[in-house]
Amino acid sequence: MHPMLNTAVKAARQAGSIILRAAEDIDQLTVKNKSANDFVSEVDVASEEAIINILKTAYPTHGFLGEESGFSDKDADYIWIIDPLDGTTNFVHQLRSFSVSIALLENRQPVVGVVHDPLLDECFYATRTGGAFLNGEPIQTSGCEKLHNAMVVTGFSPSVTKESIEARRFLEMLGKAQTIRRLGSAALNLCFLACGRVDAYWASSLNAWDIAAGTLILSEAGGFLRPIEGEFDLFRPQFIAASTDALASEISETINFSN
Ligand code: IPD
Ligand code: CA
Ligand code: CA
Repeated sequence: MHPMLNTAVKAARQAGSIILRAAEDIDQLTVKNKSANDFVSEVDVASEEAIINILKTAYPTHGFLGEESGFSDKDADYIWIIDPLDGTTNFVHQLRSFSVSIALLENRQPVVGVVHDPLLDECFYATRTGGAFLNGEPIQTSGCEKLHNAMVVTGFSPSVTKESIEARRFLEMLGKAQTIRRLGSAALNLCFLACGRVDAYWASSLNAWDIAAGTLILSEAGGFLRPIEGEFDLFRPQFIAASTDALASEISETINFSN
């Protein structure tokens, strides 16, 4: 295994252990609101500290962007992007689906990505041009080409309103997709798409830490990613991700209803 990937997997597994220990004692957890319906717990913070500690020890000259601690060494050649607990709302409700996401950027492009689901002990990972894997086995997307055959996932910002473009896009998709799910972890959504459990995913209002690892895993698994509008920007992500280009096009036509 690529040494940087190896270190990232080690850090994600360590964070996963911290999260699982906290899940056993969930009533003791202090949960704060970052904003309305957007939560952070001390587990998010402890997980991020453990990850950065492991990565910094191995790579002291690298920079970091962590969801909870922000940017450090922005101008470094290599930047690690960390979501220490993706799916915090699931976690605090004891809904058993959340993950740890770690990516390494070189020249603003992900070159290593790890998404770890500690409950199922499923570790998804990829390196640029090295393929995508789940617990050591190669993965690929489903090959689904038609929206009426597709299981599609999506997500919304915590402050979504019924008048928003996000809600209107959802309504446009409802009648067209075979079925739609909102699972609560953007990083896992991309990995489920990468291994063929779902066929497409569209989202906006996310952050780089939600998707940096997952987008690399998806592209290495043969998936397609395109912006909903304009250019794709990892730091202001809005996108359609799909198992095939044909399916991405059909979703693009469906949700760009006003164009
Ligand atoms: C959230 C999840 C969710 C997405 C939200 C994110 P968090 O991340 O990825 O799927 O819809 O927009 O904020 O806060 O649990 O790390
Ligand atoms: Ca997240
Ligand atoms: Ca998070």
